[in-house]
Amino acid sequence: MGELTGKAALVTGGSRGIGRAVALRLAAEGALVAVHYGGNDDAAKETVARIEAAGGRAFAVRARFGESGALDRLFEGLTAGLAAHGVDGLDVLVNNAGIISGSSIGQVTEEEFAALLAVNVSTPFFVIKRALPLLNDGGRIINMGSTASRFAVSTQIAYTVSKAALEAMAPSLANELGRRGITVNTVAPGAVRTDMTAGHTAIPEVVAGLESITALGRLGEPEDVADVVGFLAGPQGRWVTGQTVDVSGGTYLGPIVPA
Ligand SMILES: NC(=O)c1ccc[n+]([C@@H]2O[C@H](COP(=O)([O-])OP(=O)(O)OC[C@H]3O[C@@H](n4cnc5c(N)ncnc54)[C@H](OP(=O)(O)O)[C@@H]3O)[C@@H](O)[C@H]2O)c1
Repeated sequence: MGELTGKAALVTGGSRGIGRAVALRLAAEGALVAVHYGGNDDAAKETVARIEAAGGRAFAVRARFGESGALDRLFEGLTAGLAAHGVDGLDVLVNNAGIISGSSIGQVTEEEFAALLAVNVSTPFFVIKRALPLLNDGGRIINMGSTASRFAVSTQIAYTVSKAALEAMAPSLANELGRRGITVNTVAPGAVRTDMTAGHTAIPEVVAGLESITALGRLGEPEDVADVVGFLAGPQGRWVTGQTVDVSGGTYLGPIVPA
């Protein structure tokens, strides 16, 4: 029996990258996982198939965040999928889906900024609001932040603002929901090898630069993040709430002086 046997989880953006690793991790612990995605059917099917091949339970839910009616589609698919598995509540909500922008203040457009806020901030906010009646006491909410909210990256200023806003949700929600035993935390990865960062990680000089400012000396892998989400989602994470957990291998802690 896994630590999450009998529990149900929703992972937004669970079809690829960090979200896929989280979905696989939670399913391996026994959770029924709703694998949400935006449009790439093949990736979502592959994630569900990988979970089922490993003996787990999952179903896919498609909803393109930022489009009108997306939350209705998400919750219709979620409740139908849970019901099909004989489940009527949710125990773990991972707000992972997100988009990035590589624009400096001089380049970023109002449309780009609005899209970042819609997908990275408004959507998780209202996903939480809509999920609360479904969320069982003792549940978990985990939002996917970024180290971008901790240090300056001028070409990611709009993304940074969106992740800082997302991060700001956890303390107030933790206070409000704590008496129900629900914890709310932000996980903040550094650079992780996924499709989102593929353009950068294909450039050896960029990789070397990131490694040079990271205490543990390498880029992150999706599983590095998923293991921390798994910890927070499970019983061992019960006493952590309202926090941001940096999961970056110690990125940009200060000057690294060779021993
Ligand atoms: N990779 C990094 O270095 C890094 C670092 C810090 C934080 N993060 C954060 O971690 C999260 C996951 O990043 P990732 O690198 O794993 O991303 P990714 O590889 O690009 O995967 C993104 C996932 O989110 C879904 N998604 C994207 N836009 C969506 C939309 N508008 N509506 C619905 N679903 C959407 C995608 O589904 P479809 O493919 O179907 O669209 C996919 O499942 C993001 O919040 C990101 O900001 C990433």
